[in-house]
Amino acid sequence: MNIVIDQDLMIQNGTFHVAVWGCQMNVYDADRIRDLLTAAGYVESREPQNADVIVLITCAVRAKAEDKVFNQLANWRSKGFINENTIIAFGGCVGSELAEEIIKLDKSVNIVFGPRTTHRLPQLIGQYRQTHEAVIDVTADALEKFDALPDQGIRGPSAFITIMEGCSNMCTYCIVPYTRGKEDSRALQDILDEVVTHVANGAKEIHLLGQNVNSYRGLSNEGDIVRFSSLLYEVAAIDGVERIRFTTSNPMEFTDDIIQAIKDLPVIADSIHIPVQSGSDNILSKMRRNYTSDSYRELVAKLREARPNIYISTDIIVGFPNESDEDFEETMRLVNDVEFDQSFSFIYSIRNGTPAASLEDNVSAEVKKQRLYRLQARLEELSNVYSQRMLGTTQRVLVEGLSKKDSRELKARASNNRIVVFEGDPSLIGTMVDVKIEKVMAHTLKAVMI
Ligand code: SAH
Ligand code: SF4
Ligand code: F3S
Repeated sequence: MNIVIDQDLMIQNGTFHVAVWGCQMNVYDADRIRDLLTAAGYVESREPQNADVIVLITCAVRAKAEDKVFNQLANWRSKGFINENTIIAFGGCVGSELAEEIIKLDKSVNIVFGPRTTHRLPQLIGQYRQTHEAVIDVTADALEKFDALPDQGIRGPSAFITIMEGCSNMCTYCIVPYTRGKEDSRALQDILDEVVTHVANGAKEIHLLGQNVNSYRGLSNEGDIVRFSSLLYEVAAIDGVERIRFTTSNPMEFTDDIIQAIKDLPVIADSIHIPVQSGSDNILSKMRRNYTSDSYRELVAKLREARPNIYISTDIIVGFPNESDEDFEETMRLVNDVEFDQSFSFIYSIRNGTPAASLEDNVSAEVKKQRLYRLQARLEELSNVYSQRMLGTTQRVLVEGLSKKDSRELKARASNNRIVVFEGDPSLIGTMVDVKIEKVMAHTLKAVMI
């Protein structure tokens, strides 16, 4: 569908500002909301000041993430950026988690929607404008939103595509199955059509998204079930796709066909994110993660055999209920064995309504902090070793834009997901170039073009 902006509608509907927190699936949803509201005759405002509609795409994964949106609203109010005439549309995972409660927590909120009802936003705003009564709409059929959204807009050199919504794994600590609903995979053709649109708009990298992409089971045009490995071959076969990333791969369903696809398809990036959560089998079983630390080690060994240059990153939770010193040492052992790259770690956060919330949160705050500190220091060290090894090497990088620090420099991304900056002409933005790494800094690499 062509997006045609009707000037009358534009004046009638006004401006919108989108603020987004959380994971890449929220970034995808926020971009689709931009497409949707633009098609409905709204104009985007990059700043919240004086926007007629503020759209909040929120994250509920940890208490801290959830607090951010309420703090942001309070901050905007205190600065006078929002007032009683601003329409506040509260979406994302906190939207579906708390629903009507949100209106009580923050009275300035007018509309509450969820990850599955993003496509209804123009109607919800219209309804609120007519009635001036709070509108709450957080449930919708499985994949209705993808059929209802307009074509993807222009995203730049790297484009996200959500290939599945929700999650059915029910890890005991996690809120996601309650906020995004059970797992549903999009049809193969829908995804391939989005890839073709992005490539035609200049994207070189396609980043496939889902809470557990390994369990993708979409339908083909013939009605057959397509596995994630087949989706990878299909996307790789599209002309113009120069790099593929995917997030997140759950260790539970990392089957041999996926490992084979990674071996067969050099277009798949050299970095894979595989959250392990803990190195203790006791804790993994209480988290309802259906693998052991040894089966994780075996998976990593297989991947490294298939692709010796693969960089593996992970997520780890510390301080899950009853995590003993020994459990934590097992996590440290796993970290040292696998030698993770660029990983994330978090202190366990109780999420109401999850099975783990009924367990006593009995690891003291002090112990949790100490464990996190030790873990993060080690993860940082390991990551730095990989960065140092890149010194003097040639890397094929995708130029994403100008460097924020120095506009004479370009910001690019290496296959292993590291940010690389180098001096170059802005006309290179959106292309893949070969650079030589000359200097390793804390979180970026400095390079020269060759
Ligand atoms: N679907 C992905 C993870 C999505 S959530 C997977 O299963 O691998 C992103 C990360 O947030 C998780 O990997 C986990 O490390 C962290 N997380 C989720 N729930 C949490 C909680 N209650 N407390 C702390 N961290 C949590
Ligand atoms: Fe949450 Fe587990 Fe699903 Fe990941 S796989 S989103 S951690 S329930
Ligand atoms: Fe957060 Fe929802 Fe993503 S809880 S991590 S925005 S799926």
